[in-house]
Amino acid sequence: MSYVKRVLRMAFAWLEAGLDRIFTPACNPLYHLGALGFLYYWVVAATGIYLFIFFDTGITEAYGSIEAITYEQWYIGGVMRSLHRYASDGMIAMLMVHMLREFALDRYRGARWFTWFTGLPILWMVYAAGISGYWMVWDMLAQYIAIATTEWLDWLPIVGGTIARNFLNPERLDDRFFTLMVFMHIFVPLFLLFVLWIHLQRVTKPTINPPRLLAGGTLLMLLVLSVVKPAESQPPANLDLVPSQVGLDWFYLPAYPLMDVFGNGAVWGLALFGSLLIAVLPWLPPLRRARQKAAVVDLANCNGCTRCAADCPYAAIEMGRRTDGRPFDRQAVVLPDHCVACGICVGACPTAMPFRRASELIPGIDLPDMPIRGLREQIHEAAEGLAGDATIMVFGCDHGYDAAKPAGPEVAVLRLPCIGMLPPAFVDYVLSRNLAHGVVLAGCSDGECHNRNGVSWTNDRLARARDPMLRQRVPRERIETIWSAPVEGWTHRRRIAAFAERLRGLAEAETAERPGKAAE
Ligand code: HEM
Ligand code: SF4
Ligand code: SF4
Repeated sequence: MSYVKRVLRMAFAWLEAGLDRIFTPACNPLYHLGALGFLYYWVVAATGIYLFIFFDTGITEAYGSIEAITYEQWYIGGVMRSLHRYASDGMIAMLMVHMLREFALDRYRGARWFTWFTGLPILWMVYAAGISGYWMVWDMLAQYIAIATTEWLDWLPIVGGTIARNFLNPERLDDRFFTLMVFMHIFVPLFLLFVLWIHLQRVTKPTINPPRLLAGGTLLMLLVLSVVKPAESQPPANLDLVPSQVGLDWFYLPAYPLMDVFGNGAVWGLALFGSLLIAVLPWLPPLRRARQKAAVVDLANCNGCTRCAADCPYAAIEMGRRTDGRPFDRQAVVLPDHCVACGICVGACPTAMPFRRASELIPGIDLPDMPIRGLREQIHEAAEGLAGDATIMVFGCDHGYDAAKPAGPEVAVLRLPCIGMLPPAFVDYVLSRNLAHGVVLAGCSDGECHNRNGVSWTNDRLARARDPMLRQRVPRERIETIWSAPVEGWTHRRRIAAFAERLRGLAEAETAERPGKAAE
């Protein structure tokens, strides 16, 4: 399992790095798969409402009404139908890549199991909605799917062969069948919205809208596709004929050829095994990384400022009523089951101040597996090992490029679970105590933090747009940020070398300005 995941991770990392160059990190579609899923959903919903206005739900009228929408409404009906089709296909494509990517990034275990697990019903529902949509056209393809699906359902002993018998007989097709299909095709997507809401319960402020440029490009792509290759029906269904050749939509209907070749039992086995595997995946080995301890609150140091709750990307902190009698209204309360141990809350806490005495460096919230006090000790140890005229302390994260690789005597690297764990006061501390000439903050590619918000919160804190802010006095020219994909070692090394050059330039400029100081 670990090997498969590693190969997938590398494949995604290369793809992401390539797409970063084409689309820029802000518009990289791989970083907005969930939001793209929502965009496709809204396109399907809007075009679906339009089609439903003109669709005739009677069994004998359905085909004709779809033909009329496609060919008699000049372009608009055909385009609406095609948009409906292609946005539905886009949803499946996005969903599959989204699922694969969350797996590859190891974002499906530990506290994240809930979001992963709730993806499973989404998968079934999107397929159910799409397949029932194909039935509604009532062409040869619909007939093939109807017969194959009912036979597939009839294979279950509990159904006892009643579905096909009830709905399909050689002379006619029951009107109830259509009512059922229409109901399913409308009800399932509506219910899907509710399940998507559940899916995002453990994600703080989920990104459900893609950036405008990406949304515009996606809509344009769908529109061009709809004009160039409009969705059309196959010949009308005829229960006296057995459909011999039907063109399949490979996004929604890949299971049907499998039913023909391997039989209904095999496809049931595959569907159930696949679903079971997805359901239990979060609890399969290796579990090491999934077991990091949740953040803990130290009430003696918590003043109830709410910053940790505002910054936690996984809705793992609630502000509760004060329980220790101190004169504050509220206190932070961690929900351990939700916490992924990213440490972003520690970076947000105003009490995580390295300038405090060692005995006092216990912040309001901390990670038991990596207390912030230990980071200050590491900084001092690392500083002792630094030598040169442009020394750099790199704070890297566990998920971007492995920042430890380029370390030499001039560069020290300290690792954090997420760069968002670093309180800005630590940057101030390193520079004001002359522990290094410069500080680099390195992490995942901009726009795609492994822990959702670590990179953006860090950027905002440095830019003094979000609490806790980097103090004004800290020389910005001695700070560099490198947000890169794990495979972008060359970017990382080049940027560090360029930063070292800049630091040397600064030293020369200072010497030239204050020759007296240099002589000292
Ligand atoms: C139409 C289908 C789906 C949509 C629209 C959707 C949407 C989303 C969105 C908007 C997010 C939050 C992104 C963010 O702001 O960071 C998300 C997260 C996630 N999704 Fe989905 N999702 C879908 C299907 C699935 C499926 C099928 C799975 C897996 C079985 C899945 C697994 C996950 C996981 C594990 C996360 C959490 C990632 C993290 O911890 O940062 N999703 N999804
Ligand atoms: S470590 Fe903090 S920020 Fe990260 S999930 Fe846990 S409580 Fe939230
Ligand atoms: S950021 Fe720190 S002080 Fe503020 S509520 Fe959270 S734990 Fe308490």
